[in-house]
Amino acid sequence: MSEAKIASGLSRRMFMTASVSAVAAMPLVNSSKSADQPTSAKPAGPRDLSAVSMRINKQPYNLALDNRTSLLDALRDHIGLTGTKKGCDHGQCGACTVLVDGKRVLSCLSFAIMNQGREITTVEGLVSTDGELHPVQQAFVDHDAFQCGYCTPGQIMSAIGCINEGHAGSEDDIREYMSGNLCRCAAYPNIVAAIVQARDEIRRA
Ligand code: FES
Ligand code: FES
Repeated sequence: MSEAKIASGLSRRMFMTASVSAVAAMPLVNSSKSADQPTSAKPAGPRDLSAVSMRINKQPYNLALDNRTSLLDALRDHIGLTGTKKGCDHGQCGACTVLVDGKRVLSCLSFAIMNQGREITTVEGLVSTDGELHPVQQAFVDHDAFQCGYCTPGQIMSAIGCINEGHAGSEDDIREYMSGNLCRCAAYPNIVAAIVQARDEIRRA
């Protein structure tokens, strides 16, 4: 693209971002042409794409991603699962929490390629096929455990991890083991009440 075109609409940063995302979002099947071309002795560069296969919400995904792509950006920008939120991109807020092989992980601190072959669960994967909410989702609704809702997907995924880890035995435990998930709307008392309800329901199931 010429400088004139860049100057007319897109900033250089926007242009670079759009270009890299478009290329990196291509499924592997579309990159077979370049794979057939003769290989050069040039060492792999930071912008080279790597093949990554993951299962996300029980669906297989085969992607070609820039090695620097975080799991969070892969989910949001390349797969279109925007339920997982970016609050800080530095591992400080918990908004990006997902489950990887059943364990809670901050997806902003995990490169997508580190998750090769793993099973990822995001908030979009919780609802049952007949539309029934997960007990933790239902409990958050029942207890008004959110206001703006931005922290909520991370809170819910973290709550599932907290319950599954056996760290929801008491309200103090819940507060401690949910302390990595920040809520600027200060819904904390309602979040604790929701987790108590969901914990008891999951135990009964
Ligand atoms: S966006 Fe990952 S911890 Fe804040
Ligand atoms: S509901 Fe708004 S940040 Fe938690």
